[in-house]
Amino acid sequence: MTSGSSAVFGNIVPPPSLSPFFVGRKEERRKLLHILERHGSGGITQHGGAGKTQLMVSFAECARKQGLVPGGVFWVTADGNKEKVLSSFVEFAESLGRFGLPERQKSCTRAVVGSLRRSLGKVEGQWLLCVDNADSADAAEVVGEVAKLAEPKCGWLLVTSRRGGPELGVE
Ligand SMILES: Nc1ncnc2c1ncn2[C@@H]1O[C@H](COP(=O)(O)OP(=O)(O)OP(=O)(O)O)[C@@H](O)[C@H]1O
Ligand SMILES: [Mg+2]
Repeated sequence: MTSGSSAVFGNIVPPPSLSPFFVGRKEERRKLLHILERHGSGGITQHGGAGKTQLMVSFAECARKQGLVPGGVFWVTADGNKEKVLSSFVEFAESLGRFGLPERQKSCTRAVVGSLRRSLGKVEGQWLLCVDNADSADAAEVVGEVAKLAEPKCGWLLVTSRRGGPELGVE
């Protein structure tokens, strides 16, 4: 994995960029960093249009500029049904490593998360996985499992969702 690489998986291409009108949210970025350093994963849960995606983009840019995520920043969109969410993570895992999943396992959350674990294990240096739009119950369930791969001193997972609740599995 190239240092500082960036890519997007899922159905938003290219990844969202920071709005030229973006202002503020310094305190939220500080809190997110605190949460990630402590727990490994964190969520931005607000209603639609509140600025979740932009906050995540600005956090990722700041983290990269500060050299906090030398392993890379990755972006996965988690919209769609469970099959679509899993396929976005499969696409991401396959892009990282040489651990292809047999076709029949691509709809199994456990297998997909296992593949992601092996692939992320190959990333050198702290990584940041940004998961956008985990709005459905299906997405929250899958992302909750993926979030277990995050660790404070290894890799961070940040998720945006219109829904809160424990199923996201993040702080
Ligand atoms: N801090 C900010 N300063 C200025 N404009 C902002 C800021 N945050 C968000 N916006 C603007 O508000 C709009 C909505 O932001 P964004 O897409 O991040 O919301 P969201 O919560 O991710 O929405 P959704 O739930 O639909 O995904 C965009 O036009 C964005 O440029
Ligand atoms: Mg958004």
